Amino acid sequence: MLYKWKIQFLKTHYGISLWRKWKHWQKKEEVGNYGHLSKYIKQYVSPGDSFTDIGCMWGVNGDFSFLAEQCGASVVKGVDVFGPTPEFKAKKNELNSSVEFILGDVGDARTIARIGVMDVVFCAGVLYHHPSPFDLIVALRQLCKKTLILRTSAIPEVEGLPNAAVFYPMLKPKDRQLWNLKSLGLMKQVGITEGFESDQGYGNWFWGLTPSCITSLLETAGFEVEKRFTEPFAQTFICKPVAVTFAHKLPNETEAREMARGISSAGIARPA
Ligand SMILES: C[S@@+](CC[C@H](N)C(=O)[O-])C[C@H]1O[C@@H](n2cnc3c(N)ncnc32)[C@H](O)[C@@H]1O
Repeated sequence: MLYKWKIQFLKTHYGISLWRKWKHWQKKEEVGNYGHLSKYIKQYVSPGDSFTDIGCMWGVNGDFSFLAEQCGASVVKGVDVFGPTPEFKAKKNELNSSVEFILGDVGDARTIARIGVMDVVFCAGVLYHHPSPFDLIVALRQLCKKTLILRTSAIPEVEGLPNAAVFYPMLKPKDRQLWNLKSLGLMKQVGITEGFESDQGYGNWFWGLTPSCITSLLETAGFEVEKRFTEPFAQTFICKPVAVTFAHKLPNETEAREMARGISSAGIARPA
């Protein structure tokens, strides 16, 4: 109940501004802002780097990719499941840019192969739209050589319940209401405003992930979080790839039979 009150309060402009002042005063965590993303690209993209923007099109028409190119990135690939938009094509012509657009789902092995390993991977506004966020982060890990800049919508931490998350689809209307951010200016959140819309695919909001949950997903997939910029309903992470901690290797047929014999003789497999 206390958590619901906290959310209701943070969903007001007054609540957000008080929260910002409080964080500023505490000086414990750096406060995030969508407007700072360009600054991070300028900071982390060095001349000669390769750069990819996953989810490069909606509302931004490849702008982050063009910025990376202006920062000296030598190979730049913008990826999305739709497009390119006329605005993207016009800007590419105007700038005489070499930014390549790849139409593809980042969760698809063929898309990952077309992108290749890139020095800087940028991904903003995609994670909460994916039904399987861990798989998305694993894909980002496969692509990333030096730095991941990840920004996502998020929900506030649940005190005493680290790694908590909310799955939005099929919530009852009154339960969805809590996550409706219309009061903060978001006109439509597909999947929340009017419930799950299957024909909208990745347009739906699937997950409300807490900061601790996103951190654990990143670490499990093989990223170390170097910086985190917090906001009540969004998080931005700067990460570097480290050894992958999670892998499931499928045994070959002989190994699988041996494993099966071992498990049976040890009597450790019981109906759960
Ligand atoms: C909310 S918009 C964010 C746009 C921009 N990155 C920004 O931060 O303002 C999400 C974008 O990601 C794209 N997208 C969603 N799922 C994707 C996927 N699995 N692979 C590639 N792009 C995806 C959408 O089509 C859309 O352009």
